[in-house]
Amino acid sequence: MTNDLIFDVANVTLRFGGVTSLSGVNLQHRRGEILAVIGPNGAGKTSLFNSLTGVYSPQEGSITFNSASGASTSVIGVPPHKVARLGIGRTFQASRLFNALSTFENIKVGVEARQKTGPIGAMLTLPRTRREEQHSDEKALELLEFVGLAHRLNTPADSLPYGDRRRLEIARALGTNPEVLLLDEPAAGTNPSEKLQLAELIRKIAREKAVSVLLIEHDMRLVMSLAERLYVLNFGSVIAEGTPDEIRSNNKVIDAYLGSSDAGSALGSSDA
Ligand SMILES: Nc1ncnc2c1ncn2[C@@H]1O[C@H](COP(=O)(O)OP(=O)(O)OP(=O)(O)O)[C@@H](O)[C@H]1O
Ligand SMILES: [Mg+2]
Repeated sequence: MTNDLIFDVANVTLRFGGVTSLSGVNLQHRRGEILAVIGPNGAGKTSLFNSLTGVYSPQEGSITFNSASGASTSVIGVPPHKVARLGIGRTFQASRLFNALSTFENIKVGVEARQKTGPIGAMLTLPRTRREEQHSDEKALELLEFVGLAHRLNTPADSLPYGDRRRLEIARALGTNPEVLLLDEPAAGTNPSEKLQLAELIRKIAREKAVSVLLIEHDMRLVMSLAERLYVLNFGSVIAEGTPDEIRSNNKVIDAYLGSSDAGSALGSSDA
């Protein structure tokens, strides 16, 4: 039977020498949910994503990924490329696009990351390679249409407006057919109209592709309008969990934000 939780994180502690980045973190991500992780700078949000994707190996606790197929996998100690193949996609806080490559080529890299043919097969142009090539072209086009970048097919990534770059990164992550998509500050650096477009895209991914979304975002209006539920991290610990309304009125959360440079960045308004 399929587990209702796509991610089950229990008591995760991650240390770097004397620095404790995550301390006894518990988090449950329900299948299909748009879930957010918020918290001040240095709270451990990206460390959590890195732990969920095999980049970091926490010293304590467990991280279980439950696939729709019914398989449960412990992620800790699994290298990132294998984590990706399980059905866990992600984007990064800092852009990792291939700047000199076109929009189309950047997406193909994501699609081909999940295919079987290695470089030798590609050189010999085996029949399977040709089929996969055609398939990855079609898939790349479909994804570019999905994120609204079909008109930018041949544009080099470094000539794209910032909001388009962020959408291209999301499209690339979708290329591996993830069951869950981890987005690390997808709207950082974008303007207000780009933010609205990104929010719409994230909703569309959850709705039309039935992908569960885990989102780190500093923009409070955006995250409160998108997320069904939020976890708040502070100094590596979860200090609160709940719906946007519950989080907004949580005293521990208000204190954590008032004590940081994010102070007053609209934990308040709900009309995003
Ligand atoms: N590879 C690493 N080596 C040493 N310390 C690290 C490493 N990765 C993260 N940390 C530390 O872990 C803590 C949490 O960092 P992290 O990047 O997870 O925070 P964050 O919540 O994503 O912050 P931001 O909002 O600024 O992106 C910080 O003190 C950071 O210096
Ligand atoms: Mg971060």
